[in-house]
Parts: sequence; structure tokens; C-alpha cells
Amino acid sequence: MARDAAAADERDDSPQFLADVVAGLSSPQKTLSPKYLYDARGSALFEEICRTPEYYPTRTETALLREIAADLSALIPKGAALIEFGSGASDKTAIVLDAAPQISTYVPIEISHDALDQAVARLAQRYPSLDFVPIAGDFTGELRLPESVRAKSAVGFFPGSTIGNLDPAEMQQFLLRTRVLLGEDSVLLVGADMLKDVPTLLAAYDDAAGVTAGFNRNLLERINRELGADFDIQAFRHEARWNAGLQRMEMHLVSLHDQHVTLGGMRFSFSQGESLHTENSHKFSTDSFDALAARSGWQIVQQWISPAPQFAMFALVPA
Ligand code: AVI
Repeated sequence: MARDAAAADERDDSPQFLADVVAGLSSPQKTLSPKYLYDARGSALFEEICRTPEYYPTRTETALLREIAADLSALIPKGAALIEFGSGASDKTAIVLDAAPQISTYVPIEISHDALDQAVARLAQRYPSLDFVPIAGDFTGELRLPESVRAKSAVGFFPGSTIGNLDPAEMQQFLLRTRVLLGEDSVLLVGADMLKDVPTLLAAYDDAAGVTAGFNRNLLERINRELGADFDIQAFRHEARWNAGLQRMEMHLVSLHDQHVTLGGMRFSFSQGESLHTENSHKFSTDSFDALAARSGWQIVQQWISPAPQFAMFALVPA
């Protein structure tokens, strides 16, 4: 998922964006893919969310990675290629690269060309002997690695609990595809946010300063700006919900009163209290993650879990 999408990237997918918004507003539970939260403004707001006191995942995972760096290094073969999915600004990559100088090649996969270029330029300065093979693309789609990378042992890296933003079927599909992409001798390191008490989760997705609310509402601003819609932004409030049955946090934009929105010559009505569902963020237990890995061709070889608020790093190998 792009966390630093540039304006040029945004224009490229407008026809798809329009089609997805129309389809999402036409379904009984209005919904949109969370990938559309990340235009340039949304990406900047996500960075801000990561600095709020309530949003524990980023700082907890970073601390965990630092703590387990030597264990991770022990799993990484000499000359390996590190392949990162949805690399964004590659913020956590340096922890792995510092711990494992045996990595010969870094392959960031990122939809935003600008984010990719900036991350590679920054890391190339810090790691002058590392080979860089950036791939501009959507990590949830079909991917192919160049022959030069396929010849190396592959270490996949998917931090941030971005896996939790996928639906269960998408998680399985991503892991199955990644299994084929990385090959038999690979290791896949996945960061996953764990189940915890509901107040901690609700606060993380509805911070007191309102940064997450702004991040969510920015989606309506983006739709107005890029697709010429007329959403009255102030007429929607941000709501973070815990869905116990599906073990996920959900973000919604709830209509404050009955209203209509026009978009692409079409009219969509919202009744008071009706919501537009904008994101899921699944939370895991070791059992649920183990089951996901097992039905996706992987098995857990090692796992590390931080003290509360619990965040996990799972090392997977082909089953
Ligand atoms: C990027 N992703 C893992 C974040 C999450 O926690 O699901 C996105 C986010 N949404 C609201 N706050 C953060």
C-alpha cells in the first residue's frame, strides 16, 4: 500500500478510482478500499498518526525489531535478497539491514514511484555496497522478480501489520502468491498486531488530537478533489469500531443527517447514522496467525511478541 503517493501517481488511477467509488457507494453497506486513504495528504496524516501517543503499533514494532535484530540476522542467509512489500518510506528496513550485513540486495516493492525513488536514494547513501532493485507496483497484484534476484535466497519483509488491512481471502491470496514469488528456500517476516483490550484499540484508531479522524475524512476530500464529488465533509463524523466477531478494528464515516452526494452524474443518498466503511485492521492471536499461515502454504518457524501492547513478528518458511 502506498503511504507516500505523489500527485502524479494519483492521477494515473483515476478511472479505477471512480469505478471503485461508484461501486462502493452503490453497495448496501457503503464501503471503499483502504488503499484510497493514501494520497499525498493521507500519507502525511498516516505518518502523523504513527507519532500520536495512542497509536502504539509503529513504535512497538520498531522497538521489537531492534530487540530481535540478532535473531532475525541468524535466519538470513549470506548474499540474500531482502524483498519488502509495500515498502513506503522503508523506515524499518534499516534495522534489518544494519543487523544483517550479509544481505546483498534490497528489493522494495511500492506503488508510489516517488516514495520508491526517495527511499532508494536515502538508503543508497547509507548502504553503498548494497544492490537496489526497486519495483514499482501493487504488492497485492501479480509480481515477478528479475532473474538476478531469483538466483538469490529470498527474505520477504512485510512489517507494520499492513496484512491486517486485507480481508481474510486477500491475506491468504497474498501469502500464497508470495510463497510462489519467493521460492522454496525463502523466509517471510511478517509484522502483525495482536488482539488486546478494546479501550487500547479504540484509542489507537480515534486519537484525542483527531489526527485519525482527519485521515479518515481526507478520503472524502480526495473524492471531491479528484472525482468532482460534492461531499459535505463536516456532515460526516469519524467512528472507530471494534468488530468482535471478525476480530478487527473498523473505520467508518457516519452521516450526521439525511443527505445526498453527487458524483459522476449520479446521486447517492445517505440516511442519518448510515456509514461509509473505509478500513479494516484485523488483529491476530498466535493461533489465528498460525492457521492463516497453514492455509497459505507457510509455517511459523519463530515468533517474537512484544510486552503489552502486544505486537508480533512472525518468521515463516514454506510448509
Ligand atoms: C497501515 N495500517 C497498518 C494502519 C492500521 O493500523 O491498520 C492504518 C491505520 N488506520 C488508522 N490508523 C492507522
